[in-house]
Amino acid sequence: MNLLRRKSVTDLQAEAEGDHSLKRALGPINLTMLGIGAVIGAGIFVLTGKAAANYAGPAIVYSFVLAGIACAFAGLCYAEFAAMIPVSGSAYTYGYATLGEFVAWIIGWDLILEYLFAASTVAAGWSEYVVSFLQEFGIVIPTVFTSAPYNHVAPPDAGWNMWRLFTEGWVSTGAVLNVPAMIIVTIITILLVIGIKESAHFNNVVVAIKLGVILLFIAVGVAYLNADNWQPFVPPSEGPGKFGWGGVLRAAGVIFFAYIGFDAVSTAAQESKRPQRDMPIGILGSLAICTVLYIAVSLVLTGIVKYDKLNVGAPVAVAIDSLGHGVAWLRPIIKIGAIAGLSSVILVMMLGQPRIFYTMSKDGLLPPFFSRVHPKFRTPWLAQILTGGVAMLLGGLFPIGLLGELVSIGTLLAFVIVCAGVFVLRFTDPDIRRPFRTPVFWLVCPLGVFFCGWLMYGLPRDTWARLLVWMAIGFVLYFSYGRRHSRLAQSSRSDGQTPPVK
Ligand code: ALA
Repeated sequence: MNLLRRKSVTDLQAEAEGDHSLKRALGPINLTMLGIGAVIGAGIFVLTGKAAANYAGPAIVYSFVLAGIACAFAGLCYAEFAAMIPVSGSAYTYGYATLGEFVAWIIGWDLILEYLFAASTVAAGWSEYVVSFLQEFGIVIPTVFTSAPYNHVAPPDAGWNMWRLFTEGWVSTGAVLNVPAMIIVTIITILLVIGIKESAHFNNVVVAIKLGVILLFIAVGVAYLNADNWQPFVPPSEGPGKFGWGGVLRAAGVIFFAYIGFDAVSTAAQESKRPQRDMPIGILGSLAICTVLYIAVSLVLTGIVKYDKLNVGAPVAVAIDSLGHGVAWLRPIIKIGAIAGLSSVILVMMLGQPRIFYTMSKDGLLPPFFSRVHPKFRTPWLAQILTGGVAMLLGGLFPIGLLGELVSIGTLLAFVIVCAGVFVLRFTDPDIRRPFRTPVFWLVCPLGVFFCGWLMYGLPRDTWARLLVWMAIGFVLYFSYGRRHSRLAQSSRSDGQTPPVK
């Protein structure tokens, strides 16, 4: 039963009000910018083209609507929790208050897949755009230093044979390390150690650049729309998951990655000036703005170039190229926008991770090292440097595809648990003060669980296998450290309320 011990929401609320170690410096605009900072990145600038060319055609627009709906359910649930329990642990803390310590640990451990791994994934995408931007000016970085040394293609006949899934399918690329990816992670780590306010200012500037570039692309693109490119809008099916409505669903799973990040706003709850009001604004506001932009960009993209030409890593740049010399000036600008976009995603993801570690460490589930706050900068600096070090290694060594799918499965699992948690807490603690209430929760929460679970189901088997192994490592750590050092266990032991942990 110890595994099910829960933190009371009232205690968590008191804890949030009493803990002044992190600096409360962020208002609604900063929080919304943080959300947009984390969301718009590799998804729209890299993945959209391939998803349109291979699965959905112009109907990629519907895929964005579908994935946006799944995220809206999760976003509403996050908003309820983040306003009610404004501490920096995000879904981990919500799990602690609803489903018990063990589930909380699982989410906390799982969130590493979202935040830390997303930082590495996007750093690898950043590297590709920087290399191509420098090439515009004749600067060429040798490819051995710009990509991961290995690629991985799971053996199709491996079934659930874990050994084969893990050991087979690795192909040497001939490269040594992805050095630009490592450099950007290092720079951002330094910025994040220095301060939350400085990081938020940097993020605001970078987000303004990326929004400006996206709006410019839409404005220029609209003048070149050719309705013939949208015919047929939903291309006829060519097999399971390839065009037709099946393809729309498949593409929704792929471009789900583009929406990841709005939940990162909730990790800054303890640094928000008025979290009860501003958390829902930051989470739902950024999600709404990004959904509208994604739909507009995908409409313009498929309207100016035929979808079958978009099977590339830089679809927006290819679309600009197709418009002729008249708009060639836009090409480097688009790349600057993409580089800015990806930088802010790395920033917000790397801001989120140490704050989750911080909260888990305060709860005793991780060693005290993780909750050390720098005396001058008031940031969780040691956890930040550790996060940066690991993200740097992953980004330097592993291919973007492998990392990206792990990010999606980890995020979806967190969304499923958060939606379930809001539902459960409405029954277990109906009277608690909820500054924001998920509308029609009895419908929104189950739909959130269903949609996100279904997107998880569509992910490849080797990604599931990695998730299971990751979780198994987490179990070992929990039973060898967290369970014994849990503050909640210690306080209930001293109260004599629960039997001691054996
Ligand atoms: N949503 C983020 C991106 O697309 C992770 O880069």
